[in-house]
Amino acid sequence: MPQIDTEVLSSYPPPAAFADAANATSDLYDEAEKDRLAFWGAQAERLSWETPFTDVLDWSDAPFAKWFVGGRLNVAYNCVDRHVEAGHGDRVAIHWVGEPVDDERTITYAQLKDEVCKAANALTELGLVAGDRVAIYMPMVPEAIVAMLACARLGAMHSVVFAGYSASALRARIEDAEAKLVITTDGQFRRGKAVSLKEAVDDAVRESGSERESTVEHVLVVRRTGIDVEWTEGRDLWWHDIVDPASTDHTPEAFDAEHPLFLLYTSGTTGKPKGILHTSGGYLTQSSYTHFNVFDVKPESDVYWCTADIGWITGHTYIVYGPLSNGVTQVVYEGTPASPDEHRHFQVIEKYGVTIYYTAPTLVRTFMKWGRQLPAEHDLSSLRLLGSVGEPINPEAWRWYRMAFGSDETPIVDTWWQTETGSAMISPLPGVTTCKPGSAMRPLPGISAKIVDDDGNQLEPGTDHGEQANGYLVLDKPWPSMLRGIWGDPDRFKETYWSRFAEQGWYFAGDGARYGKDGEIWVLGRIDDVMNISGHRISTAEVESALVGHSGVAEAAVVGATDDQTGQAICAFVILKAHHADTPQEQMVDELRKQVATEISPIARPREIHVVPELPKTRSGKIMRRLLRDVAEGRELGDTSTLVDPSVFEAIRASK
Ligand code: WT7
Repeated sequence: MPQIDTEVLSSYPPPAAFADAANATSDLYDEAEKDRLAFWGAQAERLSWETPFTDVLDWSDAPFAKWFVGGRLNVAYNCVDRHVEAGHGDRVAIHWVGEPVDDERTITYAQLKDEVCKAANALTELGLVAGDRVAIYMPMVPEAIVAMLACARLGAMHSVVFAGYSASALRARIEDAEAKLVITTDGQFRRGKAVSLKEAVDDAVRESGSERESTVEHVLVVRRTGIDVEWTEGRDLWWHDIVDPASTDHTPEAFDAEHPLFLLYTSGTTGKPKGILHTSGGYLTQSSYTHFNVFDVKPESDVYWCTADIGWITGHTYIVYGPLSNGVTQVVYEGTPASPDEHRHFQVIEKYGVTIYYTAPTLVRTFMKWGRQLPAEHDLSSLRLLGSVGEPINPEAWRWYRMAFGSDETPIVDTWWQTETGSAMISPLPGVTTCKPGSAMRPLPGISAKIVDDDGNQLEPGTDHGEQANGYLVLDKPWPSMLRGIWGDPDRFKETYWSRFAEQGWYFAGDGARYGKDGEIWVLGRIDDVMNISGHRISTAEVESALVGHSGVAEAAVVGATDDQTGQAICAFVILKAHHADTPQEQMVDELRKQVATEISPIARPREIHVVPELPKTRSGKIMRRLLRDVAEGRELGDTSTLVDPSVFEAIRASK
């Protein structure tokens, strides 16, 4: 874990004008403190309920929470219809910017409502009913958002799979969720080129290669690029054939607050991804509340831009449900930041007058590498608030971000949360908090988090800067947008999150953290076998299983090593099978990197693969990843006394 000297870093109070006009004042902390559940009840009232809830929280069946008991609502109605009914139908919901230059669309709330209704009617025609699962495997096109909202409107669960995932990763997710429908596009634009996407869906739902009969009845395809696609008659349908002509009349049905809203697969400590389950009332309440207060959105005037992909939780919460429930105007961009060149993000900010910009530290560091000149060439004066998410932001990147994007004036909200928490948990309030670069600061009003030692004792804020001041980050009280389970695996849910501090009944987030001297929280990163590559969560076990899937690999061990650009980078150590002794090592390494890209995704491709004769193991056979991390980062080896054979390291070092 990085050692951060929290003492010497200066702090940044909010600008007075920002604080004066901020949505959230320090009263919010006081209100939440006074009566936490009443506070959440009041936040839930920001939504429109068809049937009011009778209780805020039922925690009697912990760790399975029920929030807003008895309440009924329609999530899509809350994100779309109610804004139109309130007279804001002409407000722009989405300024969509395609990757090809000048490929743009503007969609008002009234238009979005029509599109969602059409899609809901079309999906109903296809036989979709509440509770069904729908896999969405799409680039960042408006139809992806429409598809998510149409599912929500019908009470069907979406399972969005990042379009950078491979066919086999998609297949695993479709099979686990037993999805009935897949929504995709013919292809997607990547750095100016149209590449196929539907092909991966065809592979993923093909009968052969799977033991089970596919549950997928239809594949609904949006024409995005116009490239040729294979077509399975009866199964495949064009979006423009069935959604475009559908009726724009659709009456939303209200569902229970605990009705499932979506599944989102994320990496855990084993090779099998976990289908994280989120439900309706609590998820929408906290998503909407945090978006309003952390991003200080003024729906009448702000232009908000979150650069995440809808394939991740950030896209779900802070592109779809948070912003739309608050009726704001946002930019949605399809492409990569360097397409057609490195000016793209700055041009988009300038053109649309973006006021709030939310991105990941890895991208900030990329911009830093590209240089100060680039943002200096553009008018970024519309920006008034910046956000960061996905990994700890290093203080240097934080300061550069504020300087280059925010004329050294705008507040930065560093938001700590997870796929499992559903929405932001620890973050500054931009008009209240005096920020320290690199710290996510304090739990948001209504949220409770602690840093504790092995036995669950809370650490003393800021008394010690030694290694022993590092502890475990726990959430000691339930929160509305908490995950409600892992799809089909309640035991894994309890084991993964609730067993480490079972006695206390706390959720263990998997992160290490420490307190700074004012009691602020410094998140240090994962302490389990989960890596964070450019803000993407990948498990060591997943990559290891892809590597041993290659016929030449006998054994593999994977670690995340610190990387200037991506936060962490994947380093693999592999033992080859004897019959591969003659294959040139370079060729093997090449093959293996490709293997991981096809099995999981190009984002999981290891930065380095070392062919080694042996792996360091304890007597119980556990691979000592800590020591491999030392090797990967070129450090002195830590304690090797528990190893069966400490001399393996000479051979491993020699491989580097
Ligand atoms: C893990 C969750 C939250 C949406 C994107 C990632 C790390 C996330 C921060 C932050 C330090 C952070 C944690 C967390 N993380 N945000 N602001 N500061 N670390 O969601 O894929 O579920 O990953 O990302 O390690 O546990 P995710």
